[in-house]
Formats: sequence, C-alpha cells, structure tokens
Amino acid sequence: MNAILGEVRTLQAAGVPLASLMRGEPDFPTPAHIVEASVKALQAGRTGYPDNRGEKGLREAVAVKLRRDNGLTYDPATEILITTGATFGIYAALMALIEDGDQVLLPDPVYDAYQSPVRLAGGDCRAVPSKIQDGRFMVTEEALEAAWTPAAKLLVLNTPWNPVGTVPTRAELEAIAQFCERRNIYLISDEIYEAITYDGHTHLSPAAVAPQLRERTILVNSLSKTYSMTGWRVGYCAGPAPLIQAMYLVLAQSSRGPATFVQDAAAVALSAPQDCVTQMVREYARRRAQVQTALAGIPGAAVLPPEGGFFAMADLRAWGIASNKVRQRLLQEFGVVVVHGAAYGPAGEGTLRVSFASGGEALTKGLEKLAQGLSEIGAARG
Ligand SMILES: Cc1ncc(COP(=O)(O)O)c(C=O)c1O
Repeated sequence: MNAILGEVRTLQAAGVPLASLMRGEPDFPTPAHIVEASVKALQAGRTGYPDNRGEKGLREAVAVKLRRDNGLTYDPATEILITTGATFGIYAALMALIEDGDQVLLPDPVYDAYQSPVRLAGGDCRAVPSKIQDGRFMVTEEALEAAWTPAAKLLVLNTPWNPVGTVPTRAELEAIAQFCERRNIYLISDEIYEAITYDGHTHLSPAAVAPQLRERTILVNSLSKTYSMTGWRVGYCAGPAPLIQAMYLVLAQSSRGPATFVQDAAAVALSAPQDCVTQMVREYARRRAQVQTALAGIPGAAVLPPEGGFFAMADLRAWGIASNKVRQRLLQEFGVVVVHGAAYGPAGEGTLRVSFASGGEALTKGLEKLAQGLSEIGAARG
C-alpha cells in the first residue's frame, strides 16, 4: 500500500492529475446531532480524563446497541471496553491473546492492517486462502482446516469483509464457529462495516449465530464507518470479562481511551434515531450501482457485486495479467488509483479493489478513467 502511495506522490509532484478510487474513508460529514453532542459536552466541561474502561454512559449505550442490533448481551461493567477506534481494539485483543509463536489465522485476501500488530504481539500470520465462487470470495471450513496447525491460537474475521465485500451467511458462520470450537480457536470479529450491506444481505455477529462462540470471541467495532467518524477515533469491544480485563490492562498502559467529550458524542450516535445511517447506506447503494454500470460490458472483466462495505472487486482473472501490472498501467497511463487484489494476499490475484467510499465528481471521474483504462488494456491483450 505504501508503494502505491509512493507512486501516487511522485506523479502528483510532477503535476499529473489523478483520480483516486483507493481510499476507505467515507466522504460524508459527521451527522450534525453527533457534532452538536460533542460541542455540548465540551461546553459542559467534559474535558477531564475518561474512565479508562470507557465512560459508563458510552459502555451502557454500547450494551443497548449490541442487544438491539446484534442480539448479544454484554455486561457494560465488565464485558465492554471503549477503544481508540477499531484499530486499538484489534491491537489490544491481539496483545491480550497472543503469546510468542502463536499462529493467527487470517483469511486471504486480508485487510492489510492486521498483520503488523499480530507480529508486534509476537504472533505469526497464517493465511487461509479464499476462493471466488458464485461471484463472491469465501473461505471454506476445509480451507480453515488446511491452514490449521497445533500452534494456531486465533482467527481474525472481518464481516462484512474488507477488501472483498462478502457478508458471510448464517450457515457459513456456523461452519466457522464449529471449526473454532473443534480446534479451540479464539475469534476476533471485526464488524466495522456491519451497517453497510446491500440487496437483502444482512450482517450477523458470529457470537450471536453460534452462542458457544461467545466465550471465545472478542467483537470489535467502531463508529468510524457507520457514522462517518473516522477522525474521532472511537470504537468498542465486547467479550467475556477475563479477556476484556486483559485488554483493559493493555489500554491502561497505552492509549487510555478516547477523549471524554468524544465518548459522550459516541453515546449519542449509538442511542439516537439511526436515520443518518440509513441515508448514508442508501447513498453507498447508489454508488455501488454506479460502479457496476460504469464497468459493465468490458470483455473478460466482471464486477463482483459487493454484499457489504464500500469496495467492489473487479475480477480480471480471465485476462491472465498480474493485477499489479494492470494497476500500474491504470495509474501511469490513465491516471486512476486502485489497489491490486494481490496486495491483500495471493487469493486476490487477478482482481482490483475499487472504492466507492467517496462519491460525486471524484467517483464519476475515477470510474470514467477506470472504464477507459480497462477497456483499452483488455482490448490490447489480444
Ligand atoms: C476492516 C477494518 N477494520 C478496522 C479499520 C480501522 O477502523 P478505525 O478507524 O475504527 O480504527 C478499518 C479501516 O479502514 C477497516 O477497514
């Protein structure tokens, strides 16, 4: 990813106009009622140190939200931890669970920010290759079994899945749960895209699908994507009390949690009517359709319709050209930035990740360039 950004910067410094379909950051402003709640909290003097577990009001709001949206019951006193975004939740969970030499199973293609904290915690990453079947990436129970070794301690699952857009079904989650049970594997469930799903696909929390998973699962979530609050740095984790306690110790020696007034605003975001989320998801659905329309009809290329999240994978495997080569040509010759699937692992080879986190002119221009680039590269291949 840094290599791509390096190439982009070099071109920009040379004055080349670029359109980016790379970033995973929503372009909406944070909804006004959430901003107002933070201003009110600041004016009310909510500027002191927060409770390191998270402010009581926010932990309670999270507990209510998890019951309402996910069908999960967690005790706000002992089973919920407020974190500086999902990033810190994942870090604290890995630090709490991993001992030197433990293996961590990561579905391939993988969100590329999981590997470094695994290594930082002393763990080894072990890829679980997925396959594209019926237009979607998925890992099977057989693939999990094939990747498993006695050193495997935990699995990190991201549902809805960045970068590929799959929303695992109940049956798929049940199979994963059985694997975790059978092999005594912990689960870190990153559910940051839970609110953004399409075409009747709905997010299910693994711990709700298979109640026996609850005791071995740390649910990680944040307000970054759902409420367009990436810069606020606020998220939360839920899990069994001993695991949350171990994560709390990591947090208490490092970040000590998000700012107090930010936590007050986050509690309002979770508790207030969710119309702002519905509106944003409606707009993502429009953009998703725009991507599908713009890239339709290119010989040998297909868009795998994302079931959730705001990335679409363009499937160019039929071309037999390395995805990084296609990406470089798109950047150098057509001025559009996308990420090659192989950047997320070998299972992503032959695909490109196209972000529709941003809309408007940026998306329209980017898709025009992308469609033109893919048409020309595809046609020239013989
Ligand atoms: C799968 C996934 N998890 C976690 C994060 C980071 O989230 P946060 O902003 O809450 O730290 C991202 C952001 O792109 C993501 O895509």
